[in-house]
Amino acid sequence: MGILTTILELPIVALLAIWNSFLAILTHLNNRPSTVAHFETDSLTSLLLTSQFFVKPVPPPEGTSFVGKTALITGSNTGLGLATARVLLQHGLSHLIIAVRNVEKGERAKLNLRVEFPGARIDVWEIDMAKFSSVVAFAKRVNSELERLDIAILNAGLIKPDWGLTEDGHEEVFQVNYLSTALLSVLLLPILRSTTRNWDSVARLTVVSSTMGLISRFENRNADPLLKSFDEYDAATKKWNLQDGADRYAVSKLLEMMLVRQLAGAVSSNEVIINAVDPALVKSTGLQDLMPYFPARLIANIMGRLAGRTMVQGAWAYVDAVDGKKEESHGKLVRNWEIEAGHQMMKTEDGKKVEEKLWAETVEELENVAGIKAILGVQQQQSDKKKGAGRA
Ligand SMILES: NC(=O)c1ccc[n+]([C@@H]2O[C@H](COP(=O)([O-])OP(=O)(O)OC[C@H]3O[C@@H](n4cnc5c(N)ncnc54)[C@H](OP(=O)(O)O)[C@@H]3O)[C@@H](O)[C@H]2O)c1
Repeated sequence: MGILTTILELPIVALLAIWNSFLAILTHLNNRPSTVAHFETDSLTSLLLTSQFFVKPVPPPEGTSFVGKTALITGSNTGLGLATARVLLQHGLSHLIIAVRNVEKGERAKLNLRVEFPGARIDVWEIDMAKFSSVVAFAKRVNSELERLDIAILNAGLIKPDWGLTEDGHEEVFQVNYLSTALLSVLLLPILRSTTRNWDSVARLTVVSSTMGLISRFENRNADPLLKSFDEYDAATKKWNLQDGADRYAVSKLLEMMLVRQLAGAVSSNEVIINAVDPALVKSTGLQDLMPYFPARLIANIMGRLAGRTMVQGAWAYVDAVDGKKEESHGKLVRNWEIEAGHQMMKTEDGKKVEEKLWAETVEELENVAGIKAILGVQQQQSDKKKGAGRA
């Protein structure tokens, strides 16, 4: 009996050991010695315990229909992007744009989807989020070639084990996950707005964030200038360790939550509903394989397999954000089929100041890239303010 009990207990003990190592690694990433006071963050243990074990993923409700609609999903050749494409097509999506950096990979995904959904129009369009020029060219094509864009899901993202600058001079994770996501979001606004005006439902923009964003410490938040601080590193060694890579990923996912709130401040929910989504831990996507440092990669993979949601369940979370949740989600994070404000820091006055500074610098940077102020109506707001001050 004693031996039997031990044998039965073994898997549970092993599971707990793996779970604890996983939490320890992720928590360690956020516990580096700090030069700035910590903001309160949510507890990773409780965030993951809740999402992975206590929340039952909910499929799109009966009657969900995307018939007649056009959607684009960045990074939809694989992983959660592809799974979401499939769920949208299962619910009648008429036109899908697979937006990818590698067209060959996109065409392979399209080939499979074509067989499953012969009635839908499926296109593969190139976009490399590590290059502003590619994002601008892609957005130009969307605005000029598409008659409507009902849904944009900005899903492309990465975590990197090594340090590297893009041709635009930005650290790659920062540019792909945040800056280019911000740029594309703004450049898609014209067609999203016109879709709302010309068709009978409000167009949707959803940015894919992560639980990791909720535990980010955002150590460089007081840097001045702030954007530049993401691109500075020891140029001599160019070495990045486990903490650096995962920390950058986490911060980039927090920046996306802030981006969504700022965009929602600039765009009415009658024009475009803008939100962020966290699919929580999802198994078998490419992301866990990109984890810096082999033991972390291994543990993340085992943990993903043991506790992760399936890709279809992750896709259901996306569909909840782009369709299930309406204007009440504008500027917010959709997580576990509920609407949340985002990182604890975003609820504090100091955090809001950081967010405003981040947004102001982002607008200036992207104005230089593609003249985004006119789309956001920023110049108009500034001159309105001046006129108001002149009258006062
Ligand atoms: N998996 C999870 O547990 C989890 C949890 C929370 C949030 N997320 C978020 O979910 C999103 C999708 O991740 P995933 O798990 O599905 O990972 P994935 O399988 O690695 O998919 C990532 C996608 O992003 C694309 N991508 C990367 N860099 C790009 C660039 N420079 N330009 C254009 N596309 C680029 C990849 O293209 P290639 O195939 O060419 O590399 C791929 O299509 C990410 O934003 C991630 O942060 C995932």
